[in-house]
Amino acid sequence: MPKIIAVAGSTGAQGGGLVRAIQRDPSGEFTARALTRDPGSDKANALAALGAEVVAANIDDPESLKRAFAGAHGAYCVTFYWAHLSPERELSQAKAMAEAAKHAGLQHVIWSTLEDTRKHVPLSDRRMPTLMGKYKVPHFDAKGEADQFFAGLPTTFSYASFYWENFIYFGMGPKQGPDGVFALNLPMGNKRMTGIAADDIGACALGLFKRRDEFVGKKVGLAGDALTGAQMAEALSKALGKPIRYNAVPLDVYRNLGFPGADDLANMFQFYADFEPLLLASRDVRLSRSLNPALQSFDQWLTANASRIPLG
Ligand SMILES: NC(=O)c1ccc[n+]([C@@H]2O[C@H](COP(=O)([O-])OP(=O)(O)OC[C@H]3O[C@@H](n4cnc5c(N)ncnc54)[C@H](OP(=O)(O)O)[C@@H]3O)[C@@H](O)[C@H]2O)c1
Repeated sequence: MPKIIAVAGSTGAQGGGLVRAIQRDPSGEFTARALTRDPGSDKANALAALGAEVVAANIDDPESLKRAFAGAHGAYCVTFYWAHLSPERELSQAKAMAEAAKHAGLQHVIWSTLEDTRKHVPLSDRRMPTLMGKYKVPHFDAKGEADQFFAGLPTTFSYASFYWENFIYFGMGPKQGPDGVFALNLPMGNKRMTGIAADDIGACALGLFKRRDEFVGKKVGLAGDALTGAQMAEALSKALGKPIRYNAVPLDVYRNLGFPGADDLANMFQFYADFEPLLLASRDVRLSRSLNPALQSFDQWLTANASRIPLG
């Protein structure tokens, strides 16, 4: 009998990639139980068509999580910061998932976490503004703080990289400047940033579930490439067939762009840039490829996806 992996966020980027990877895995070692708030949605139906069991669950509702994790071998736990912009809500959702995992006696949990940047940039450090009274990078810090809830469980702490899909869906694609030339606007100076195709995160997670004994209790950082803004702009130019310039936006300009979370993202890029060696050491392309041999580089991702990048 295939072992059940309960997957939070199954209709989203990370969880969706994992459900697809599990259901397409020829070994059949696992089967996915896809958690969604709406089992009747088109996305949920597409997962069911792959053979996944689709169940109703809400990560704000601890009892629904207990039901969804019961009888499973493992669970993929992820929170959705950008749906609500509340670190406190992420903390209580992570706690609810960890408690449900304990209640179900799961053999393996993957917690999709990120660094608590306050361990590297104390709140007193004025080079990076403190946000919401007690965070530096709210959408990182709350996940890192939530690690404590998973500490007593057989957990792998998985750190994702910047999704290249942000160039398609998150408004981060090249923008036309006043001179008509398109520019990739990122506040990364000349530092390298690790990135990944969102689908590959789930495919790597399948690798972690397969190699449970090696990775329980470990931190694993996932990446498909580590590139500077200039290198990404060059690759985008080739793939899109038009010149894309890299514009190293000053952090304070980015912070004040005015969209919800701009200050949070600016601090994230500052963390990526100021702690480049730490980030590059913690996100390991070679290890990611060993977990997922089909892992895409940025060029490979562009070959498949460049036509989906809106040029605005
Ligand atoms: N974008 C990046 O570059 C990046 C990089 C690293 C980490 N991250 C982190 O990734 C996390 C998001 O993961 P993702 O990109 O996989 O998310 P996503 O694609 O936005 O997917 C969210 C899915 O989660 C489900 N969902 C939302 N609220 C829920 C709730 N209360 N209970 C149950 N399900 C809920 C929704 O499914 P239903 O509607 O079907 O319930 C939705 O399809 C964020 O916290 C972010 O910080 C992002």
